[in-house]
Amino acid sequence: MDAPVPELEARADACADALRDADSVLLASHIDADGLTSAGIASTALERAGITHDVVFSKQLDDEEIAGIAAHDHDTVLFTDFGSGQLDSIAEHEERGDFTPVIADHHQPAEADTQFHLNPLLEGVDGGKELSGAGASYVLARALLSDEATDLAALAVVGAVGDMQTVNGELVGANVAIAEEGVAAGVLDTAKDLALYGTQTRPLPKLLEYASEVYVPGITNDQNGAMRFLDGLDVDLHDGGDWRTWASLDHDERQTVVSALVKRAVRNGVSGDKVTDLVGTTYTLLEEEAGTELRDASEFSTLLNATARYERGDVGLAVCLGERGEPLDSARELLRTHRRNLSEGLSWVKDEGVTVEDDLQWFHAEDRIRETIVGIVAGMALGAEDVESDRPIVGFGEKNDEEVKVSARGTPALVNRGLDLSVVMREASQSVGGDGGGHTVAAGATVPKGEERAFLDAAADEIAAQIE
Ligand code: C5P
Ligand code: C5P
Ligand code: ZN
Repeated sequence: MDAPVPELEARADACADALRDADSVLLASHIDADGLTSAGIASTALERAGITHDVVFSKQLDDEEIAGIAAHDHDTVLFTDFGSGQLDSIAEHEERGDFTPVIADHHQPAEADTQFHLNPLLEGVDGGKELSGAGASYVLARALLSDEATDLAALAVVGAVGDMQTVNGELVGANVAIAEEGVAAGVLDTAKDLALYGTQTRPLPKLLEYASEVYVPGITNDQNGAMRFLDGLDVDLHDGGDWRTWASLDHDERQTVVSALVKRAVRNGVSGDKVTDLVGTTYTLLEEEAGTELRDASEFSTLLNATARYERGDVGLAVCLGERGEPLDSARELLRTHRRNLSEGLSWVKDEGVTVEDDLQWFHAEDRIRETIVGIVAGMALGAEDVESDRPIVGFGEKNDEEVKVSARGTPALVNRGLDLSVVMREASQSVGGDGGGHTVAAGATVPKGEERAFLDAAADEIAAQIE
C-alpha cells in the first residue's frame, strides 16, 4: 500500500527504524483529545510491533517535564502531539545522552532539530488544517506496520476533528487521505449530514435546542420552540417512550428535518454562510455501537477532552485502546461535568462581558473557569451570536499563585488576512517573561500574574502588525 502522506514517508520510515532499534520506549503525549488519540494510535502500533513501552501524559512540555521524562529508564522517547516546539530543550537532553527522541507532532517547530522528526510543517503540509498529532502518529504507525495499521485511521480522524481541523465542515488535505484509508479498512464512514453536535446521543429536541454552531431564532436555546418546530414536521419523534436521536432517522426523515431547518433559518434572517454551516461531513466509527458517543468523531473527541482536561488521561487512553465498561462509564461521568463547566463558563463570559479593544477582545475569568478549558470557552464565545468575531479573543484563567493561563482563538477569515496567533502568543508572552505557542487560529501561553495588561498591549501590537 502507498504511504498515506507521501511527503512524510522518508521521515516516518526513519522514525519507525529508530523505534525498532530501541530497547524500550517511553511514549509521552499531550493531554487533550488529539494527544490521547495520538497515544492510542502510537501505543497500539508499538504493541503490535512488539516494542516494549510505557505511556505518560503532560499538559505542557516545559523544561521541568522534559527533565522528568529524561529521568525515566528508557533509551528512547516517542513524543506525540508535542515535542517539535520544545526541541531546544529536548536536543540538550539528546546531546547529554539522556535519551534518543522520536517526534510525531504538528506544532510549529523550535530552532533546534533532531534526526527522527516527523512533522507536516517540515514538508510543506499545513499542520493546522491538514494533519493533527493523531494524523502524524498514524503516518508513523503505517510506517511501522504497513497495512496492519489502517484500522487506526478512525482514531486519527477523531484526533483531527478534536483539534478542530475541519475547514467549512470537512477534513481537508492529508486528513482526507487518512479518512479514505479508514473507509477502505471498513472502520469509517463519511457522509454529508446535519453538522450539529450530538447526532448519536442527544434526543432530537435537545439536539436542536442546544445547537450552538448555528443560531436559529425560535429554535436554538428555546426548548418549546425546538419542540414546536419538530411537532410541525411529518416525522415520528418517538421510539416507544423514548425520544429518537438523529442517528436513528432514515434518509428521508433527515431530508425532511434539514430542509425545514434551512427554510426556517433563511426566513429568520440567518446569513447564507451560517445556513451552509448546518450541513457538513460527518465521520462515523463503524466498529462502535450506534447511539453512543464513540460512534461519531465529534462526540468521541469531546468525550476524550472531558477526560484530558480533568487530568484523567488514563481514562481517555483506555477508551482509545478499546476498553469499555469501567473506563467508558468514568469518561461519561466526566463528560457530564465537562458539559456543565463549559456551559457555566460560557454564561459567565456572556454575563460579565468581553472587553473589546481595537485589535483584540478579552476576558479574565480568574478562578471561575478552569484554566484547562478557558481556551474551549474562548472558542465557543467567539462563535456565540452576541460576541463579534471580527477580532481575536483572548481569555485569561488562574493557573496558580504566580501564573496565569492565556488562551487565544481566531477565525479562518482572520488567518486569511494574516493572523498567526502562535506568533502572537509566543512573542507577547516572552515579552513579559512567559512562554507560549500553538497554531495560527488557536494558541496559548502562560504569563506571570500581574502582567496581563502588558501582555495584552504586546499582543495587540503584534496582531495589528499581522492583519492587513
Ligand atoms: O495542542 P493541540 O494542537 O492538540 O490543540 C489544538 C487546540 O486548538 C484544541 O484545543 C482545539 O480545540 C483548538 N482549536 C480551536 N479552533 C480551531 C482550531 C483549533 O479552538 N479552529
Ligand atoms: O490551551 P489552549 O487550548 O489555548 O491551547 C491552544 C494551542 O496552543 C494548543 O495547540 C496548545 O498546545 C498550544 N499552546 C502552546 N503553549 C502554551 C499553551 C498552549 O503551544 N503555553
Ligand atoms: Zn494537536
